[in-house]
Amino acid sequence: MKAVGKVLCATGVIVGLLAFFWKDAFDPESLSGARVLLTGASAGIGEQMAYHYASFGAEIVLTARREAVLQKRKRGIQCLSYNFCEILCHFPESKQIYSQSFLKDFRLSARGLDYLVLNHIGMTPFQMWDGDVEHTRWLMQVNFFSYVALATAALPTLEENKGSLIVVSSLTGKIPTPFTTSYSATKFALDGFFGSLRHELVMQKKNIFITLCILGLVDTDMALEKTRGKVYLAASPAAEAALAIIRGGATRVQEAFYPWWLEYVCHFRDWFPSHRDQVLRSYYNYSSP
Ligand SMILES: NC(=O)c1ccc[n+]([C@@H]2O[C@H](COP(=O)([O-])OP(=O)(O)OC[C@H]3O[C@@H](n4cnc5c(N)ncnc54)[C@H](OP(=O)(O)O)[C@@H]3O)[C@@H](O)[C@H]2O)c1
Ligand SMILES: *[C@@H]1O[C@H](CO)[C@@H](O)[C@H](O)[C@H]1NC(C)=O
Repeated sequence: MKAVGKVLCATGVIVGLLAFFWKDAFDPESLSGARVLLTGASAGIGEQMAYHYASFGAEIVLTARREAVLQKRKRGIQCLSYNFCEILCHFPESKQIYSQSFLKDFRLSARGLDYLVLNHIGMTPFQMWDGDVEHTRWLMQVNFFSYVALATAALPTLEENKGSLIVVSSLTGKIPTPFTTSYSATKFALDGFFGSLRHELVMQKKNIFITLCILGLVDTDMALEKTRGKVYLAASPAAEAALAIIRGGATRVQEAFYPWWLEYVCHFRDWFPSHRDQVLRSYYNYSSP
């Protein structure tokens, strides 16, 4: 009995210490000089990530479609740090992204890469399914296939540099929610693809880490505009969401959650599914015509 007590006590102390140090595992210093390629960096959470990475001293390549906006972000970042900051314009919906030259053109193989942060998304309506199958196909290209193509092109340099792949997803990529049919599908696809790839990297003893980020509603202009009057949920600040993603990638967690309690929502998602869905729907405003 005494021995059991001692073991329990020791386990308690170890767990306590782990919990204590776990919280502070993130060392911003580790990002100083890190080479980061960040997609969807012109607005929203991507823009905030760019500022954080820059203030931690990382070297960043920003990508999005709108060059003028990216130039503006670049100027903002150069006021924050003297680090390398470049921009690269791309159109995931075009064939360009599938040619590995997208990354090679940029001499990434020469510069090397520590973090590939896949964050961009195509515009999608927040509404009932309207039967637009072509839109779903297009959104799959932008939100899913381009992630697969970019990750594939970056794997060799990530392996060489023991780098990380950060994939930005959403709660609706773990638990389906209303008004997000196609979007939810693209995020579930990311979980499947990158979850399987993660296994294979471990099996091949390749030193590349994959972090999937599960975010709740965040107060980006786009998200607020689309959900206004349709959801009764408070949006969390984009700068905090951006930091949670960066922290998750830097501390090499498999899944990063923001806000933190989403981890428990996902953990218990299959316990009472019909009750869960009823509660979920109560947060959505649907006034039938
Ligand atoms: N905001 C939320 O509530 C929320 C919740 C859960 C998860 N997330 C996830 O967080 C990530 C960032 O979301 P966000 O809210 O910050 O998005 P956002 O504000 O709409 O920004 C999207 C970014 O993607 C780029 N983009 C738009 N259309 C594109 C296209 N067709 N091809 C390539 N790039 C395109 C945009 O720049 P250009 O227009 O210049 O190309 C912009 O930089 C996404 O993965 C999203 O799914 C967001
Ligand atoms: C719910 O949506 C209807 C229109 O679809 C709108 O008139 C109403 O104001 C919304 N309710 C809330 C509480 O936002």
